[in-house]
Amino acid sequence: MRRLLPDQHELSLDDLYEGLTLPAGDARPWVALGMVATLDGAAAVDGATADLGGEADGIAFRRLRGAADAILVGAGTVRDENYGPPSGTAERRSDRQTRGLAERPRLVIVTGSLNLPTDHRVFSDPDQRPLIVTHGQASPDAVGRLEEVADVLRVGEGTIDLEAALIELGTRGLRRILCEGGPSLNGALLAADLVDEVFLTISPVAAGGGTSRIIRSEVPEVAHRFAVASLYEHDGELVVRYCRER
Ligand SMILES: NC(=O)c1ccc[n+]([C@@H]2O[C@H](COP(=O)([O-])OP(=O)(O)OC[C@H]3O[C@@H](n4cnc5c(N)ncnc54)[C@H](OP(=O)(O)O)[C@@H]3O)[C@@H](O)[C@H]2O)c1
Repeated sequence: MRRLLPDQHELSLDDLYEGLTLPAGDARPWVALGMVATLDGAAAVDGATADLGGEADGIAFRRLRGAADAILVGAGTVRDENYGPPSGTAERRSDRQTRGLAERPRLVIVTGSLNLPTDHRVFSDPDQRPLIVTHGQASPDAVGRLEEVADVLRVGEGTIDLEAALIELGTRGLRRILCEGGPSLNGALLAADLVDEVFLTISPVAAGGGTSRIIRSEVPEVAHRFAVASLYEHDGELVVRYCRER
């Protein structure tokens, strides 16, 4: 594999993001998006990402999870991708502990509807209760049901206040947030200018169709600028780290 930026030299695939650390953030936790897209910007093919990422993306995905205190994800992705609790080999768990992180990242799910059955795979490990972020007008019955399998955090009145949610995560020691999408959650974070970095794998696949881009929102477009911090290529995949220029 080759690293194209900041300088160009051969690396072993396993060197990709080796020892990656994420900043803890300042007034609020640091937010990094970790996404894969086709060369024409599609976030999914046939409603899932399974056909998009190759070897380099798989390593980037694991390294990002290895550096995060929490994985933030929209309920749509939990449902579409049948998310489970974060796994991790004994080696990876011990590597995290050596670096001062918890054994596993905490899974944080954003949902307004609370439409997640309690027997969903994501709730299958009682030792890894996800944290559910919803708003103050969420149905008390649905909250009560989900509190059997998860911790529930209500922020904002009729809508979720994502910045307040992040600050609350920070008070719980979750300061390095990896957001794994999907496009709607990414869009809400971008609209509130809460995205500090984007780790993007561009897959050498063209999708066509009408699939969502990796960041989508109903609000008018913004033009937030990012700088390229690093760029790798392996087997046609481009692995880019973009940092927000503020
Ligand atoms: N290419 C990639 O790297 C990547 C990564 C992740 C997902 N995907 C793909 O993206 C697709 C899913 O995308 P998506 O945009 O539908 O899903 P999403 O962003 O994961 O989830 C959307 C849902 O999350 C909740 N949500 C997100 N933002 C919210 C906010 N600001 N306020 C309240 N609730 C919020 C809502 O849940 P409720 O409906 O429960 O209220 C909303 O319906 C799938 O096809 C998946 O395969 C691709």
